[in-house]
Amino acid sequence: MSKDKILYEGKAKTIIKGPTKHTLIQRFKDDATAYNKKKHKIFKGKGALNNKISEYIMNYLRLERVPLSFIKRVNERDQLIKECEIIPIEFVVRNIITGSIAKKLDLKEGIKLKKPLLEYYYKEDSLDDPMISRDHVEAFSWASKSEIAKIDKLSLKINNSLSRLFKKKGLILVDFKLEFGRLKSDKTKIVLADEISPDSCRLWDIKTNQKLDKDVFRKGLGSLLTAYQEVASRLGIGH
Ligand code: TMP
Repeated sequence: MSKDKILYEGKAKTIIKGPTKHTLIQRFKDDATAYNKKKHKIFKGKGALNNKISEYIMNYLRLERVPLSFIKRVNERDQLIKECEIIPIEFVVRNIITGSIAKKLDLKEGIKLKKPLLEYYYKEDSLDDPMISRDHVEAFSWASKSEIAKIDKLSLKINNSLSRLFKKKGLILVDFKLEFGRLKSDKTKIVLADEISPDSCRLWDIKTNQKLDKDVFRKGLGSLLTAYQEVASRLGIGH
């Protein structure tokens, strides 16, 4: 492992130089953080679980024709991905009111939105990832108008596909965060990057509304690993 060239060390992932040009290794860590690292704990096995859950979701989205940076999972912790230039925005899609929007607007948790809500957050830890508008994205050249249009369309398509998938597994996709990038090998190509796992989306049991995502850790509701294992087992992922 010592020969691995670390290019970026994130809160829950490490990015390592890949084996060939324009590839990277995305390594899933066991660290869980919340509230911009104010809360931090290590859960042995979380990285491996999220690696498999994200692999499953990315393979599903590939079949749905979503362009991906994900190539394949290579072992318990690592994925081989296409190198891309990450757009510094967190794209959040919400179906149900909870989390920061409930707090910000003093809304009751659990209300279903009339249509999915798209939000943009500027990825900057020192500013606590402030919410921005579509115009900010364009004004500061974080992405062009046509790129944002593409990303909005993809985000809604991903929401539709994953909501359908999770519903079949007895789960409600409440909200989630996406990241997109431009492929290093062809910067005109926008791809879905990062991961999709219970770290980055909210999943509730369809019958009981039990939370099966990182809120378990954020709010101290029980065992994070048990919740993530439940999501993996609903998706039919063995371990
Ligand atoms: P929020 O309600 O805290 O704004 O979160 C909305 C969704 O985005 C939720 O599914 C968790 C996810 N998310 C991340 O993955 N990373 C983040 O840094 C934040 C703030 C939210």
